[in-house]
Order: sequence, then C-alpha cells, then structure tokens
Amino acid sequence: MKTRITEMFGIEHPIIQGGMHFVGFAEMAAAVSNAGGLGIITGLTQRTPDDLAKEIARCREMTDKPFGVNLTFLPSVNTPDYPGYVKAIIEGGVKAVETAGNNPAKWLPALKEADIKVIHKCTSVRHSLKAESIGCDAVSVDGFECGGHPGEDDVGNWVLLPRAAEELKIPFVASGGVGNGAQLVAALAMGADGINMGTRFIATKEAPVHQNVKDAIVAASELDTRLVMRPLRNTERVLTNAGVERLLQKEKELGANIKFEDIIEEVAGIYPKIMIEGEMDAGAWSCGMVAGLIHDIPTCKELIDRIMSEADEIIRQRLAKFAA
Ligand SMILES: Cc1cc2nc3c(=O)[nH]c(=O)nc-3n(C[C@H](O)[C@H](O)[C@H](O)COP(=O)(O)O)c2cc1C
Repeated sequence: MKTRITEMFGIEHPIIQGGMHFVGFAEMAAAVSNAGGLGIITGLTQRTPDDLAKEIARCREMTDKPFGVNLTFLPSVNTPDYPGYVKAIIEGGVKAVETAGNNPAKWLPALKEADIKVIHKCTSVRHSLKAESIGCDAVSVDGFECGGHPGEDDVGNWVLLPRAAEELKIPFVASGGVGNGAQLVAALAMGADGINMGTRFIATKEAPVHQNVKDAIVAASELDTRLVMRPLRNTERVLTNAGVERLLQKEKELGANIKFEDIIEEVAGIYPKIMIEGEMDAGAWSCGMVAGLIHDIPTCKELIDRIMSEADEIIRQRLAKFAA
C-alpha cells in the first residue's frame, strides 16, 4: 500500500511503531522495520548519547531497512543531554525521528539539515497545527484511547482524526487504540495516511520485554486501563495493578494538594521492574485500551501482514459492496 507516509519514510506498509520506554530497543525496531513498517528506538531509554549511538549501530546490524528514533521532551528534574542525543541520531545516519512532548522547534534545523524526516506526536488539533507551522514533516495524532500520555483534552480518535483531517496539510497517522486492519481502513477513511501502534507491538514475539508483560496485555480487557497523574496535569494511561490502585488511592486522599513526591514510589523507576523483571504489580506503566483487542502474541511480520491483508480484504470486499 502506498501512502504519503510510506513515501516519506521509504517503508512498505503505512505502520509505525511508536517509541516506548524500555520496549523500543534495537530488537523491537529492527523486527518492525524488517516486517515492512517503521521501527523506532526509544532515545531516552538509552542512558547516554553514546549508548544511543551503540543502539543505533546494533539496530543497523539487524536490519537494512529504514528505522527511526524517538526523542521525548518532557519536563524532568535532570534535563537529558538532548544535543548529545540529536548528534548521535544524525551521526548514526538515522533518517526518521519521532518527537513527543514539548515543542521540538529548537531541534528542527539540525535534523532538517541532516535530511531527517520528523513526525511529531500530538494529542490535539492545535498542537498538530503548531507542529505543521514549525516545519514538522508529519504528525502522529494520538487519541484519548492511547497508551501513555493522552494529554488533558480527552478527545477520542473518532472525532480527533477527522478534525485533524479538516485542518492539516501535512500527512498524519492515527495513533492510540489501533491494533487491527479494520482500524487501519477506518483511519485511512478519516484522512490519515497510516497508523502508529504502541501497545499492540509489545504483545509480539520479538518485543524485548518479560513474558509476563505480554501475557498481561493478552489477559487485559478494554476496561483494565486507568488514568493516573491527572491531578498533576501529566495524565498517563496505564494498565491497572496493585501499585496503580495504591497510586489512585493516594490521588483520592490528597486531592489537589498532591505532589509528584507523594507518588514517586509508584511511578519512578518502574519500567525496568515491569519490562525486565516482569514484576507486574510494581506500579504505573503505559498501556492502551487496545489491550481489549489483543488476543495473541504473533511475530511482528505475522502481525503486520495480518493487518495489511485484513485491510485489503475489507476495502475490496466489504467496502466495495457499499460503493454502488
Ligand atoms: C509501554 C509504553 C511506553 C511508552 N513510552 C513512550 C515514550 O517514551 N515516548 C513517547 O513518545 N511515547 C511513548 N509511548 C506512547 C507510544 O509511542 C504510542 O504513542 C502509544 O502507545 C499509542 O497508543 P496505543 O498504545 O494505544 O497503540 C509509550 C507507550 C507504551 C505502551
């Protein structure tokens, strides 16, 4: 399938794997790229720019297809060495960057100079328009269903995507809640040029995470995610567990007075415990409502091929019937 997104990133299928903390290692990105999508290494999971350079080199050994790097700009106590990470990306010859969080304007000149395509993740039409106006090449429009940070507007993709289509000139992909071919077709119908998936890619054979994480996603329904850190205006959609329920109880008890320090035990340093150790009650880790649509653990190639053949069949059979 050819779309503006496949053309932009030089990929076979219009499917991107969003950056994921402690999931987006070289193994994950290479598996998605080898299957014809765009795999993404998560920049900040690598502790230093030098580690990122090594991860990029490792990925290049596993695939000769294009892959990207995610750079997340979030407020943090110790600001990461962003200039160093950008340098590692450029010197590593990566041609696609997924930015997320704060406005990436400061980094665009260097990335453009290196002929890198930038797709910025946005949870609203206004941020998408801003991304377009500062020169981003594409947008990943992330609806309220998404795993991770859905922002504070709570607009689902059923409205957010067609709204983005009304306003944007640059191509965008549908992100959040996507896991099958019917949703790819729906996204294309609503004006998107592809899809971005996070949670769905964790439940694959190659995802370099503990088996408990994959099993938890398969076992979860669409009712099993929770929104945490809403009082801090840093809302995150996570899979519920004992740590998350404890966190929500604290949010209830402390109300508007809550501070980050109050919940640090349930949110800081959780990813390695979950993703590497498989301690499923450790605390808050991002997971989308799409868990309800995930019933198996295929390879990335099986998953992507299935999505593409479902989409093809729906377009040719089901939709063609209605065209008369
Ligand atoms: C475990 C996990 C970790 C994530 N970490 C990041 C991250 O570090 N940076 C980022 O921009 N997005 C992150 N995301 C968001 C994904 O890139 C993607 O936008 C989101 O998962 C899409 O929603 P879906 O899970 O419903 O497919 C994460 C998502 C998950 C599930």
